[in-house]
Amino acid sequence: MRNAKQGDEQASPATKGSLEPVIDPSARVHATADVEADVTVGPRTSIWHRAQIRVGARIGADCVIGRDSFIDEGVTLGDRVKVQNLALVYHGVTVEDGVFIGPNAILTNDRYPRAITATGELARADDWQVSPITLRHGSSIGAGAVVVAGTDVGRFATVGAGAVVTRDVPDHALVVGNPARRLGWVCACGNRLNDPRTGKPAPATPEATDELRCVVCERRFQYFPDAETIREQTATANQGAPA
Ligand SMILES: CC(C)(COP(=O)(O)OP(=O)(O)OC[C@H]1O[C@@H](n2cnc3c(N)ncnc32)[C@H](O)[C@@H]1OP(=O)(O)O)[C@@H](O)C(=O)NCCC(=O)NCCS
Ligand SMILES: [Zn+2]
Repeated sequence: MRNAKQGDEQASPATKGSLEPVIDPSARVHATADVEADVTVGPRTSIWHRAQIRVGARIGADCVIGRDSFIDEGVTLGDRVKVQNLALVYHGVTVEDGVFIGPNAILTNDRYPRAITATGELARADDWQVSPITLRHGSSIGAGAVVVAGTDVGRFATVGAGAVVTRDVPDHALVVGNPARRLGWVCACGNRLNDPRTGKPAPATPEATDELRCVVCERRFQYFPDAETIREQTATANQGAPA
């Protein structure tokens, strides 16, 4: 195992199991963090107080893993991922690069949970089925949101604070509420996309011909009704409708 000695960070984080974690020397792991066996931690990543990183988790470069957060067995986090305080990321979740997971957010893995079998015995691993979740590149999960097992959150989508996501979220969609419903659309920079005709945030279901715009970074998008998604318009790309 390799890791940095910085301030009150530890030289040897707590380990469990047989394979020691591999922690890049430039990563910072607080002394109270619990990093289990066979974990990898990439360059410049910070892991804060009492975070628990379970066996076999893979954490990329330049990530920030907040206080009291939980990264379960075998979870993969890409690069530049922010996991805020108290967030829970369970087994079966894949987090792509640049994802934001807000404080107290919960990413679940069992759509129909039970502690016991139908005959009353303690449920074992074989009785339990993981429904995976993928959080795509650049997406954000708001504070206290719950993503129900078996749903994906699209590229640069945003899940509002306190939402309960029960269905896949399209790329760039903004969803809120319980169950989460689409409120509108967000840019790669995170701001709401506007309908230039009204100057107001674009609705959940724009006209196919509408060009949605970000007034902050000036990116432009087009809505594709059949796929219920938007695509960025670029000068060079011949994009066509998404599959
Ligand atoms: C979803 C969000 C991006 C919308 O922000 P906004 O574009 O400024 O939207 P508005 O405040 O104008 O709200 C528009 C409507 O959606 C509702 N709304 C906004 N956020 C909501 C939420 N999280 N859940 C449910 N409804 C919400 C508003 O009440 C309003 O409804 P109304 O038109 O009936 O009055 C924002 O409220 C949010 O939840 N951001 C995430 C914050 C967060 O968790 N940060 C984590 C780091 S601390
Ligand atoms: Zn923008």
